[in-house]
Amino acid sequence: MGVPLIYFLDDDENIIKLVKYGLRNEQFNMKFFSRPTALIEAIKIEYPDVVVSDVMMPDMDGIELIEKLRSLSRSMPVILVTAKAAVDTAVRAMKAGAFEYLTKPINFDELKLAIGRAVEVGRLRSEVDEIKTGFRQRYSFDSLIGESEPVNAMRELIKRLSTVSEAVILLRGESGVGKNLVARVIHYTSPISDRRYLEINCASLPSNLLEAELFGYEKGAFTDAKNSKKGLLEVASGGTVLLDEITSMDLSLQAKFLSFIENRRIRRVGGLEEIGVDLRVVSATNSDLESDVAGGKFRSDLFYRINVVSITVPPLRDRGKDVILIGRKFIEDFNTKFKKHVKGFTNAAERKLMAHNWPGNVRELRNVVERAMIFAEREYIDGDEIALTSISQAPIYEDGLHLPKGLSLDQVEGEYLKNMLEWNNFNLEQTAKELGVTRKTLWEKRKKYGLLN
Ligand SMILES: Nc1ncnc2c1ncn2[C@@H]1O[C@H](COP(=O)(O)OP(=O)(O)OP(=O)(O)O)[C@@H](O)[C@H]1O
Ligand SMILES: [Mg+2]
Repeated sequence: MGVPLIYFLDDDENIIKLVKYGLRNEQFNMKFFSRPTALIEAIKIEYPDVVVSDVMMPDMDGIELIEKLRSLSRSMPVILVTAKAAVDTAVRAMKAGAFEYLTKPINFDELKLAIGRAVEVGRLRSEVDEIKTGFRQRYSFDSLIGESEPVNAMRELIKRLSTVSEAVILLRGESGVGKNLVARVIHYTSPISDRRYLEINCASLPSNLLEAELFGYEKGAFTDAKNSKKGLLEVASGGTVLLDEITSMDLSLQAKFLSFIENRRIRRVGGLEEIGVDLRVVSATNSDLESDVAGGKFRSDLFYRINVVSITVPPLRDRGKDVILIGRKFIEDFNTKFKKHVKGFTNAAERKLMAHNWPGNVRELRNVVERAMIFAEREYIDGDEIALTSISQAPIYEDGLHLPKGLSLDQVEGEYLKNMLEWNNFNLEQTAKELGVTRKTLWEKRKKYGLLN
């Protein structure tokens, strides 16, 4: 942690002398300034833990200084000291973001204590800032890996949406495509990224508990409600809330939720008062909403309301080479996690990944790479280390082979070979015969396409 660095600013040299003397035995590294400009220059070179400043100075008052300092570092606490115990200045100072307000004549004990507290708070604040910055990096636009057309289009849409802080957004897409990731990116790239982001899975709670969780409740609203409690919507106010698996809400809660979206007001369970809540609502689902509406499971008015801005996250099988790009990112992630140094996939492994149809989407890819990484001992993951447990994209049909678009001729060959092998239950004699090649050629082809077991 080190000795805290404190910058002290006062245009009165006598005060500086006094403070130098008064705090000479403290575990602070104090630097003194008689002009605000000098202090600001110093800050640009080294951030102090705390700034202590006089309020009335000839060329800049303490309040202006605070504003200036806050633009340099939001987390640095500023203690203001003044001869005039003017209440209005104190109020203005606190509003401008002063950490504390002390009056002259300076009481050294008071000053010491205030500095100590400010150091603590400043350190906590910068930890929080770091965590938030970490989230912003982790959920940047670039964290949505992919260069395929559907992903680029989606990223553009998200970019446009993230500038609008108050919106209702619906995320659609198969399981495992990255809806939660997209919701986080939307939040952490938006102007409200320093506000709360909360997720709730609507399928995780029975309806009455979900309602209490979302809207909060008043004391005595039900038997267990010993105290009143804020709901998630209220807690996330100003930020973003993700309602995952929105179709799991029952019809009566859907009605209540619709009214919230339209009026931006909530009423806690058992409460009378309406509370205004301003937040961005993102809902997500992997089910077919249209048929849920047709089947009476989902209210059509709510559907129309939340479907105004919807993003469909494309299935992995439609993202072409993104499979490889995302797969490589997972290799990096698991290198860190498992302390390995795998460099990538072999060509055979890449072909195998490309030929698969990924019914479990990115989550399935992650699991496949994780499994390969657990066992990986060589520099590159090879085809035989890729264990695809789900149904292949190119199932064998009596009437022929179904291949995805966008495969190279090599991939088509590999895929066809794989299917022929499966078709013949890996009877090599038979497969070679049907393909019109020798056993040796078959072996070479199997090696090339990672089909040796
Ligand atoms: N484009 C991408 N780049 C990198 N990682 C991704 C990408 N898309 C998804 N992932 C990762 O894939 C995993 C699954 O994503 P996520 O949980 O967001 O899916 P989902 O659509 O919410 O699934 P479900 O419908 O089952 O809730 C996560 O680990 C996520 O970080
Ligand atoms: Mg999800």
